[in-house]
Amino acid sequence: MTIHFIGAGPGAPDLLTLRGRDLIAACPVCLYAGSLIPEAVLGHCPPGARIINTAPLSLDDIVAEMQAAHARGQDVARLHSGDLSVWSAMGEQLRRLRALGIPYTVTPGVPSFAAAAASLGTELTLPGIAQSVVLTRTPGRASAMPASESLGHFAATGATLAIHLSIHNLAGVVASLLPHYGPACPVAVVWRASWPEQRIVRATLESIAAAVDEGMERTALILVGPALAAEGFDESRLYAPDYERRFRPQSALANSPTAAPADEGRGERQHAGC
Ligand SMILES: C[S@@+](CC[C@H](N)C(=O)[O-])C[C@H]1O[C@@H](n2cnc3c(N)ncnc32)[C@H](O)[C@@H]1O
Repeated sequence: MTIHFIGAGPGAPDLLTLRGRDLIAACPVCLYAGSLIPEAVLGHCPPGARIINTAPLSLDDIVAEMQAAHARGQDVARLHSGDLSVWSAMGEQLRRLRALGIPYTVTPGVPSFAAAAASLGTELTLPGIAQSVVLTRTPGRASAMPASESLGHFAATGATLAIHLSIHNLAGVVASLLPHYGPACPVAVVWRASWPEQRIVRATLESIAAAVDEGMERTALILVGPALAAEGFDESRLYAPDYERRFRPQSALANSPTAAPADEGRGERQHAGC
């Protein structure tokens, strides 16, 4: 008997890994974080499964459910939104299970920042603009922030910021970022990324607070940084015709029997794929 922790993805039931989907389908018990996981994802549970929304439960209650399943010899699918490596409360559950000697596995999921970037059709790291993405949040009732992890500290780097758990504090986010990014810096808010009712608002730091309405609460990601609207960025060297790399050595191309005549551009006889 095993507790399977599964990253349930951003909400769309087909944005799960195959492993996650198959584990959910094989477990007679499913514990899910109902505040963020839509019912549609539970469609992967087998008929007759014991399905429990853990949103109103305490950690003691949740572990008691796991212990009871363990005593019955039943596997459990434990679902948290997005990926389990960030803001899932998985760490404290695993610690309890280790103490109790109950076995577990961990299956990653599609994180909400990746789903939001996909919905925007945006690469968050662009050559010469931003090469880092900071996954962060602002303080909440349940979680204080370490002093060194203020938004201002991260903003000073100029990286792309993916700010979670903070849509209720949008005015505070803007106030912290304005001195670093300036009023014209692009911002996108993606509400319920991948859900049927998904909404996207694009604006600037100066205008985003007025552009987001109160209906876009809780399940929203705030993305900030110059990469979000950049058009004039450099192309990466990765696909440059004269770039020597392991999978496309220039020496091999020169000796290839299919090499094009010397007057043809090199870029035209090279495949663009990775
Ligand atoms: C408790 S955290 C969970 C994060 C999750 N583990 C992940 O990998 O993205 C919840 C926050 O993630 C963000 N989030 C989760 N799902 C989202 C979605 N479908 N669309 C936009 N933001 C989402 C929101 O900022 C929300 O407040």
